[in-house]
Amino acid sequence: MIRTTTALVTLVALAAPAFAEGELNIYTSRHYDTDEQLYSDFTEATGITVNRIEGKADELLARMNAEGVNSPADIFMAADTSRMKRAKDAGVLQSIDSATLEARIPGYLQDVDNQWFGFSQRSRIIFYDKTTVENPPQTYLDLADPAYEGMVCHRSSTNPYSQTLLASIIENHGQEAATAWAEGMVNNFARDPQGGDTDQLRGLVSGECQISVSNTYYFARAIRTDVRGLPKDAIANIGWVFPSQNAEGAHMNLSGGGVAVHAPHKENAIKFLEYLSSDQAQLYFSGGNDEYPAVPGVGLSPSVAALGLFKPDDVDLSAVAENIPTAQQIFNTVGWE
Ligand SMILES: [Fe+2]
Repeated sequence: MIRTTTALVTLVALAAPAFAEGELNIYTSRHYDTDEQLYSDFTEATGITVNRIEGKADELLARMNAEGVNSPADIFMAADTSRMKRAKDAGVLQSIDSATLEARIPGYLQDVDNQWFGFSQRSRIIFYDKTTVENPPQTYLDLADPAYEGMVCHRSSTNPYSQTLLASIIENHGQEAATAWAEGMVNNFARDPQGGDTDQLRGLVSGECQISVSNTYYFARAIRTDVRGLPKDAIANIGWVFPSQNAEGAHMNLSGGGVAVHAPHKENAIKFLEYLSSDQAQLYFSGGNDEYPAVPGVGLSPSVAALGLFKPDDVDLSAVAENIPTAQQIFNTVGWE
């Protein structure tokens, strides 16, 4: 009998775990060590202790799902619109009201139901070997031009960065043009898709690739620090193009966060997201990881500023996210590994 009681007591404890007021539990798949500063600055500013669980986005989502109503997660954070969409679709986020986030985060970086918000941006742009390419592509669609046959490198279609780029091309140009683009890209590949974004840049140095596509912060990082396979004298021969400047602008993606559906510290969670939109945190995002701030008017770090100013594509990333299943189908159809 007692056991049952004990069991009952334990059940109650499980059902309503006693989470300390001044705490915040963050589940994050952002893989940037420099985020430490963000958390310690927040704790210093609020007295709220940050507990962090790091892992791959899908692992964290599976965990939140398995934990259900007992999940200690207050916040879920991930890099890439497609991962925030997966979290929303998995039902592990909740809509929140925050006048601060509404005012500071541009609309195209907000989920239509306020279940996630972008706190930093990165652009996916064209890089090329200046020693062999005189007329680099000027738009994403140009990348598929037969004139660049056997010259282009891009990572795998299973990667979220590839999927969100194609999803944005669907949003801006339609499914037919997006399919023709993906087909043309496969024809123009210099090698089978492999490696990460930094490997696409390394391919320009090794000569395997003449034109590559990568997120901006991987190149900005190579300007700011030493990156294996990207020595300073070699990256001096790498040129870059912010695509589609006379049209929709350069594709932007985000790193974002949302409040967990069963957040035990909902108020602390909203406070943290609002803190991420503060000038202090926004400056940090740019300085710490070579990303672009989400909040307009916040300064850029030297390595990011070195890439120059450009016209970003402010297409609604919530709408783009809806195209990701179609993008995956197109990749399969055209045989983009
Ligand atoms: Fe990345």
